[in-house]
Amino acid sequence: MNRTPLSQPTSRSDSSPVNGGAKGRLMTSQTSDLDTFEHETRARIAASTDEAALEAVRVEALGKQGALPGLMRTLGQMSPQERAVMGPRLNGLRDSIVEAIAVKRAALAEAALEARLKAEAVDVTLPAPPAYRGAIHPISRVMEELARICGEMGFTLEEGPDIETDFNNFTALNFPEKHPARDMHDTFFFHPGPDGTRRLLRTHTSPVQVRTMLKQKPPIRMICQGRTYRCDSDATHTPMFHQMEGLVIDRTTNMADLKGTVTALVRAFFEVDELIVRFRPHFFPFTEPSAEMDVRCDRSGGQLKIGTGADWLEILGCGMVHPNVLRACGLDPEEWQGYAFGFGVDRMAMLKYAIPDLRDMFANDVRWLRHYGFSPYVLPGLAEGVG
Ligand code: DAH
Repeated sequence: MNRTPLSQPTSRSDSSPVNGGAKGRLMTSQTSDLDTFEHETRARIAASTDEAALEAVRVEALGKQGALPGLMRTLGQMSPQERAVMGPRLNGLRDSIVEAIAVKRAALAEAALEARLKAEAVDVTLPAPPAYRGAIHPISRVMEELARICGEMGFTLEEGPDIETDFNNFTALNFPEKHPARDMHDTFFFHPGPDGTRRLLRTHTSPVQVRTMLKQKPPIRMICQGRTYRCDSDATHTPMFHQMEGLVIDRTTNMADLKGTVTALVRAFFEVDELIVRFRPHFFPFTEPSAEMDVRCDRSGGQLKIGTGADWLEILGCGMVHPNVLRACGLDPEEWQGYAFGFGVDRMAMLKYAIPDLRDMFANDVRWLRHYGFSPYVLPGLAEGVG
């Protein structure tokens, strides 16, 4: 395997001091062999195009089984005169080859780095590719807008779980057991637990009112937003949808406060100065009196304009909190009263941003999101407008 292009003295007798002529010839021939070896090795070092090739040359020339160490081992068999010449020559040769390899290795490393830098170069002056970077879903956006408006009006943001108890979703909200009002909500029930009670997917965000009243002392001024569920599916209903709820509990709140608050909220949300509203009597088990709020709108010209116009658009439900609800939440109706309101967030988003079909909102179609989504870098703020 190893190339040993050098003739090596085979025995001491070859270099017998008696035979001065032979010794002289040997040394001369060895020296010229060494020149050839050095020349060849240097050429091979120079011709190495990568680290592996260079390493192969090094092993052949300098490795344990390599040519030079082999020669060095023969020094012991030489006469002192020969050794005096060959010793320094071999040492010098080894040093020069070691150095040549080191120089070449450094050059190869530098060339490799150079090539890599060239291959991986990034032109930072190029415009960014039009890669799609994601967008905020209109529902998230609208919930953020509504939360900001209500935040300015002094409301805190409360949360509740999607899986609720029958008590929080119905009983405490004055839906009596077996009362037909429960059927208004096509509820997804879970199997009854060991105690016989059934958990359910909340059918509205109103149970968060109950949770808040049970854990906080009035005065309370809260909103909550989130997912709600009903077993219902058509062009305007999806089994999962979003609602927002507001609750104010204080000693002297009244219907006028309620009207002022929800009108201000809707006006800020739709960013219209002129917003004509009306309150129609309605029924909700948890409020008395109850109302639905409509806003004026204009549908002429195939476009919906909110605020003024010939038509009415139903926007939200509201009312004064029913004394039974206050009682169920441990509050004395003689001391505390309050108002509440609730509405569908998805519909608000559709109205504000002209989104035609509710079901598309949850279809996870990225083309839809590209069209209707919002930049994550621009947050809604009241100063610059929430929209
Ligand atoms: N929970 C009602 C629903 O899902 C909405 C609602 C109406 C909430 C009136 C309220 C309210 O807080 O006062 O239809």
